[in-house]
Parts: sequence; C-alpha cells; structure tokens
Amino acid sequence: MQSWSHLADAMTAGRTVSADSGEALGLSPARLTITFGFGPSLFDSRYGLARLQPARLTPLPAMHGDALTDSRSGGDLYVQACSDDRQVAFHALRTLTRAASGVAHPRWQQSGFRADSGAQTPRNLLGFKDGTDNAVKPDRDVWAASPGWLRGGSYLVMRRIRLDLAAWDRLARSRQQLAIGREKVTGAPLGLKREHDPLGLSRLDSQGRRAIPLGAHVRHASPSENGGVRMLRRGYNYDDGLDVLTGKPDAGLFFLAFARDPRAQVLRVLEQLATYDRLNEFSTPLASGVYAIPPGTRRGGFVGAGLLG
Ligand code: HEM
Repeated sequence: MQSWSHLADAMTAGRTVSADSGEALGLSPARLTITFGFGPSLFDSRYGLARLQPARLTPLPAMHGDALTDSRSGGDLYVQACSDDRQVAFHALRTLTRAASGVAHPRWQQSGFRADSGAQTPRNLLGFKDGTDNAVKPDRDVWAASPGWLRGGSYLVMRRIRLDLAAWDRLARSRQQLAIGREKVTGAPLGLKREHDPLGLSRLDSQGRRAIPLGAHVRHASPSENGGVRMLRRGYNYDDGLDVLTGKPDAGLFFLAFARDPRAQVLRVLEQLATYDRLNEFSTPLASGVYAIPPGTRRGGFVGAGLLG
C-alpha cells in the first residue's frame, strides 16, 4: 500500500514512474483518480488482521436471481482507476499491477464507461438517465465512523449486472417507462415534466391508477419504501463484447454504491429489488463484492496506514 500510494500520487499528478511502461507519456492525467479497498477475505487468518475486520465488512448473501461467478467476485484488494482518458486508466492499473508482482495478482478486472459531461445526468444502457435521485448527506449516509482505521472512509458494494438489451429493445417505450417509473427522455417521474420533480409515489394518473406502478424500479429502490436509507450510486456501463459461450452481448451495469453501512443501506434495497423489481426480467447479476474503502492520506502518508501501519 505504501508503494501503491506513492505511485498513485505520481500518476494522478501526471508524473512518470520508474521504469514507466510509457503508454501514457505525453497525456494529461485527465482527472485520474485511484481508489483502494479491502475485501472481507483480507481479514482471514493469513495476515494477522482478523481482529481489525470491521463488523460491517462481510460478504453480502446472494440474492434471488443472482448467477454469481466466484472468479469475478470478491477479492482481498480493490483498485479502481477512473479517468476521462481510457489509456490513462489502463496505464494506472498496469503500473499498480506490476508494482504488486509477487505480492498480489489480479483476480478479476472490469472496464466501464459513462457519458459524464457534468452538464446532465448520464444514461445507462437501457437509455434512461441514471443518477437523478442520488442525493446523500455524506456524514449520515456515506462516511464510515468505525472502526478507527476506517473513520472517514466508506464501504463500496459492487454488482456486475448483465442487461438483456435485446429483450429490453422489444419493449415499447411506454412499457420501459413503467418498468423504471420515469420518463425516458426527460428523466422526470412518470407523468411529470421535470427530472428533479419529487417522485410522488402516491400520485394517481388520470384513470385513477398509481402513476408509478408496483414493480417500477424507482418505487422499490426509493428511500421512502426502504426506511429512508440512501446510498451514493456511482455505477458504470460496461460492454464486454460477446459472451464466448452464448454468443450474446455481455453488456450492462457495473453497479457501484458507497454507503456507511452496506447491509443496512444497500443490502436492504437489494432485497426489495430482488423481490419486486420489474427490471429483474431484463437483468442478471453475475458478480458481487463488498469492500472497505479507507480514507485518503496526506502527502508522505499512505492509504490504509491506519490498518497496516
Ligand atoms: C439492473 C440494473 C439497474 C438499472 C438498469 C438501474 C437503473 C436505474 C434508473 C434508470 C433509475 C432512475 C434514475 C435515478 O434516480 O437515478 C434508478 C434509480 C435508483 N436505483 Fe437503480 N438500477 C439498477 C440497479 C440498482 C440496484 C442494484 C440498486 C441498489 C441496490 C439501485 C438503486 C437505485 C436507487 C436507490 C435509485 C433512486 C430511487 C429514487 O428515485 O429514490 N439500482 N436506477
């Protein structure tokens, strides 16, 4: 973690590293950020860390409908490189992987993308705005308070969710909107005009039916249906070409959410969605993970020092 922190510091500032592989030479860091995390398995008997395992850091149970692949799930360590330039992100991961050679090796890897101009809410591969209602109070919803080494960090829940886009495309737009609970073009709650209008889950349409029907994704994901819990969603679309076994597209949502308590917040919503969400017909979760994300560090320190230092 010391050398990773050092490398992350250099690369996010656009400096070369020793024996640099070179593919990012001359490129700006393009808002490169690097996020590190620790999975529950890091705290087993191998490294003497068991007594420092956060009580909240345990693998999430498989949900109804999950088709999880072990080799794409979990992991002792989590490394995420984000940049506006994919080549810069690639270089960062390659450099960190090389530096860890002999100590840690990649278990799985996922590329993702989002049309994140900042000007409007990005869309997922279903074609809907994703991230409209993502307001959190960081101290209440995101930053972990304990154990001491994790204070000011967070937890990250990962779900790699394949979407059946061919089936989705066969659905008329009006039916897609009923499945999500929002208008496709504007992102407004069904029947309303503006993206950030409140959902109004008890609203009725002109025929006296629920404007946002039972089964709509936003209804069952909404804080008001889940004891008020909120999380910070920060997912990416992914496109891994064709599945080698089925010949069908392997594309979907690499769902990522930060929370102060992964079970009380994210698992709670996952359970609701597994039971009621219309999107289940069009989605298959293929991988899952939960990681403790230690707080950042000041220059001269290193990420994870509270745990490992
Ligand atoms: C099948 C994959 C998924 C797709 C395609 C998807 C898509 C969407 C879309 C289009 C919205 C409406 C826009 C917005 O408010 O951001 C939304 C809202 C939301 N989604 Fe998902 N989502 C997926 C999975 C999940 C999962 C696994 C969770 C949590 C465990 C989740 C939690 C939420 C929450 C909390 C909202 C906001 C609800 C509200 O309006 O209050 N989603 N999602």
